[in-house]
Amino acid sequence: MNILEFLHTRQSNPHLQGNAPDEATINNILKAGMRVPDHAGLTPWHFTVVKEEGLTKLSKAFKSAIISDGGDEAKVEKATKMPFRAPLIIVVSTRFHQHVKVPKQEQLIAAGCAAHAIQMAATSLGLGAMWRTGEMSYHPLVKERLAIELHEEIIGFIYIGDKAKELPLKNSKDLNDYVKYF
Ligand SMILES: Cc1cc2nc3c(=O)[nH]c(=O)nc-3n(C[C@H](O)[C@H](O)[C@H](O)COP(=O)(O)O)c2cc1C
Repeated sequence: MNILEFLHTRQSNPHLQGNAPDEATINNILKAGMRVPDHAGLTPWHFTVVKEEGLTKLSKAFKSAIISDGGDEAKVEKATKMPFRAPLIIVVSTRFHQHVKVPKQEQLIAAGCAAHAIQMAATSLGLGAMWRTGEMSYHPLVKERLAIELHEEIIGFIYIGDKAKELPLKNSKDLNDYVKYF
């Protein structure tokens, strides 16, 4: 598949299984995240690789977060299971810098590009990947457990693994609804 065709047909896959990819593969995925547009070269992102025991630790963090919010048993159980939906999660967070020309908003976008590049790289390697956030992304307790400063943002949990099933190709949205020429 050529690059344009890849870009035109990319889609997420939440049905993930298997073992985490090996370290070389993980590094290849992360290197794509390092290669995104970045005003003033601030590198305003950070990647936390979560696999194996890390998934259990993340599960415990989610559980504690929901309990601390007074969530009911069903909610606790649901959150506890969430990290096990894939053998690898890459947590993309911001690392904001003070810069006269680069407001926080631009740094957030760059970190978002890194998350996208990570998902694309995983997809290009034949893996399935799904970008998720949800309330756990914004929870101070989760940030604390992941050693992410409270003033930073978790851009996404990128779930990655072998595809448990291939999904049918979705139709692309109609370009005309989103484009005008000026
Ligand atoms: C910032 C961000 C956060 C997202 N969070 C979630 C999420 O928590 N749960 C979810 O089901 N999809 C979430 N999505 C959407 C999925 O990653 C995915 O893009 C969507 O299901 C559409 O599928 P597609 O990527 O195949 O077009 C999020 C996407 C973005 C960009």
